[in-house]
Amino acid sequence: MMRRYTILPTVTAMTSTHVVSSAICGAALGVVAFGSLAAAQPLVAGGKKALVAHRGASSYAPEHTIAAYALAMQQGADFVEQDLAVTKDGVLVCIHDLTLERTTNVEEVFPTRFTEDKSGATPVKRWLVYDLTLAEIKTLDAGSWFDRKFAGARIPTFQEAIDLVKGKAGMYPELKDPEFYRERGVKPEELLAAIMKKNGLINDPKTPFVIQSFDADTIKALAMVLPGVERVYLVSPQDIGQIDTEAKVKAVAGWATGIGPNRLIVDKQPDIVKWAHAAKMHVTPWTFREKDPAKFQVLRDDMTKFLYTYGVDAVFTDNPDQFPRK
Ligand code: G3P
Ligand code: CA
Repeated sequence: MMRRYTILPTVTAMTSTHVVSSAICGAALGVVAFGSLAAAQPLVAGGKKALVAHRGASSYAPEHTIAAYALAMQQGADFVEQDLAVTKDGVLVCIHDLTLERTTNVEEVFPTRFTEDKSGATPVKRWLVYDLTLAEIKTLDAGSWFDRKFAGARIPTFQEAIDLVKGKAGMYPELKDPEFYRERGVKPEELLAAIMKKNGLINDPKTPFVIQSFDADTIKALAMVLPGVERVYLVSPQDIGQIDTEAKVKAVAGWATGIGPNRLIVDKQPDIVKWAHAAKMHVTPWTFREKDPAKFQVLRDDMTKFLYTYGVDAVFTDNPDQFPRK
């Protein structure tokens, strides 16, 4: 399976001295039996189609800011998505990339705190989330890159996202780059389990909760540490081979409760929805956005096709206000 770092950093050869929990080891080694796990629950009560606000209402406000999450709920999101990274001091924060430079002013604030990425022809400076403490990250401006009117917006902690969303909408967090953290002795799955327990988010009827990851080992580990929580296995176009037959989809249902294929996969092989449903899994493709050239001319029609012709259960969209309710 392909490694998928969100933005490739310099990963200098590091000794894998990390200690993983027995659950994670067991899952990674494939020695745990998952057959007894509960069948997938509907994503939304009554079996309605679900709107997942991708990085918040990220077409209208800077992704993964409190403004984007609040707007997503105003626009009727059933779930608000968070991508999760881990700081140097072990705090889950909401940011898509493994690095800070695309969405913050980290280069100005911490000009010397970069790591050189030597994976390409020319070395590139990268500012890893994992190289800064939460206090340092909280000094960064995460809004100006999007629009000056959002200047001063901060990267939220996952706790701050919970404080905003809990009881008002569902949460659909993604553990980003678990392999990167695992190599450094960090266990994002356990950080997530701990914060969920602390906040009473396991089976909270007012806050539906779905965890997603591209990393199969992470989903399998979550099946052990959070067995009653929905777990979605994300699949990118280059990994279509993971789910390109009914038998493979059925196998995924042994450890995941849903799949999150890229939209191109569903468009190419619409039967995947039928296969997933037969295996009692839900389907949430990504990503539907106004700016995507692959979409229909009208985004609302595009989402309508996937939801009501292909029959997917939910969609990730940057434009929650365009979600077609029926
Ligand atoms: O998590 C679904 C979708 O968000 C995956 O793509 O890169 O936007 O996290 P990405
Ligand atoms: Ca995501």
